[in-house]
Amino acid sequence: MSSSVPLADLAPGAALYAMRRDPLEFFTRLAREYGDIVRFRLGDHEHDLYLVNHPDYIKEVLVTHDRRFTKWFAVDRIYKVLGDGLFVSEGEFHLRQRRLAQPAFHRDRIASYANDMVSFATELRDRWRDGATIDISREMNWLAMMIVGSTLFGANVEGDASEIRDALGEILDQFERSMLPEADRADFDRSMEKLDAAVYRIVQQRRASREERGDLLSILLRAHETEGEGARMSDLQLRDEAMTIFLAGHETSANAMAFTWYLLSQHPEVEAQFHHEVDEKLGGGAPGVNDVADLPLTGRIFSEALRLYPPLWAIGRRAMEECQIGEHKIPAGSVVILSQWVTHRDARWYPEPLRFDPERWHAAARLERPRFSYFAFSAGSRACLGEAFAGIEGVLCLATIAQKWRLRLDQPNTIPLQPQLTLRPRYGIKMRVEPRG
Ligand code: HEM
Repeated sequence: MSSSVPLADLAPGAALYAMRRDPLEFFTRLAREYGDIVRFRLGDHEHDLYLVNHPDYIKEVLVTHDRRFTKWFAVDRIYKVLGDGLFVSEGEFHLRQRRLAQPAFHRDRIASYANDMVSFATELRDRWRDGATIDISREMNWLAMMIVGSTLFGANVEGDASEIRDALGEILDQFERSMLPEADRADFDRSMEKLDAAVYRIVQQRRASREERGDLLSILLRAHETEGEGARMSDLQLRDEAMTIFLAGHETSANAMAFTWYLLSQHPEVEAQFHHEVDEKLGGGAPGVNDVADLPLTGRIFSEALRLYPPLWAIGRRAMEECQIGEHKIPAGSVVILSQWVTHRDARWYPEPLRFDPERWHAAARLERPRFSYFAFSAGSRACLGEAFAGIEGVLCLATIAQKWRLRLDQPNTIPLQPQLTLRPRYGIKMRVEPRG
């Protein structure tokens, strides 16, 4: 049986306007008014868009009918940034590239990254001064960038860090403005050049050193240099893959950690338990990968932050053929949008959804709600390649910093958000550094 999907009652152009103005609010409102699935038109877009909000439907899109969908992006310029790298490429080619990169993300390999994660977190925390005001979003950006640079690319990106951050910030601003007349091509192109230059520099340095480190960059370079069967990776493809993993590997984790510090500062009772866990399990010693399992509350805190502030807050898919979602038929060509922001804040799965409550992540509590009420890392063939990496990084970095400091919000308690490709605090988050007694 098939039933039709409600069409949102919006004046012509209203959806486009609302998407530009405040997409988080727009999707939340659509879900509240129309429920589990709703259809809307976006400007002169050829096909309808469907916002899908029920975990069962989300599972159908991401897992059951995985192969019937391709990815879809609201902003064309994403192709300029990520090219045909893993995040964007499709089909057999995507599968081949994913298999190629996979060894760098095996559990035992990730375990070997733990020391770098902890040593950069230690370096950062030892730079902070009692009473200083910092922008935690900037600090976490530095940390996540240094970690991905070192673990996957064997590169010290310290010298490039602030230029990369500014360039990426400008690019994301331009994504936002690309829907508006004031988008500035020249600014975008300039920022792209800077990002490209940084990635090329990382690749060049390794080539010059001829070092074989067995890391992700070595894997990519080997595929680039190996002739045969027409499978050699082109210069451009090497750039696209490196850029993708470099950006996907730090922008997301950095935002997740920054929002975690913000949430902890607003919940002193959780913060006190967190400190207790860190002190009890680690004493004053540096954590290692084997400590991650002994810091379960820290893990729950990170998951709960990812629920409330999912770094990827919406993902798009295009149906290549007609599909059935629940009892609804979705015509070929339609765009389906799944929003982590909306689903993670649905009171059906998370009572008092706005409340920061890490206890929701106990195994028993998780079993009580549908699996796909949470999809911060997506699922299926396009699931995040860095999920385990990010989980270990989050726990180790949070614990290392908390051994020494607590962070207090040092600005009004409204954090304007910038929902672009990722969800970021628009103006950063100012926090004051206080020693742990
Ligand atoms: C908290 C941190 C992170 C979050 C929330 C996150 C989330 C996601 C999500 C939702 C997707 C899938 C998007 C879609 O289905 O359209 C994705 C894909 C991806 N992520 Fe992550 N990610 C995180 C960290 C990382 C890290 C640390 C790395 C690498 C070091 C990474 C590498 C990738 C790659 C390569 C893809 C593309 C996979 C593919 O399409 O085959 N991510 N991520």
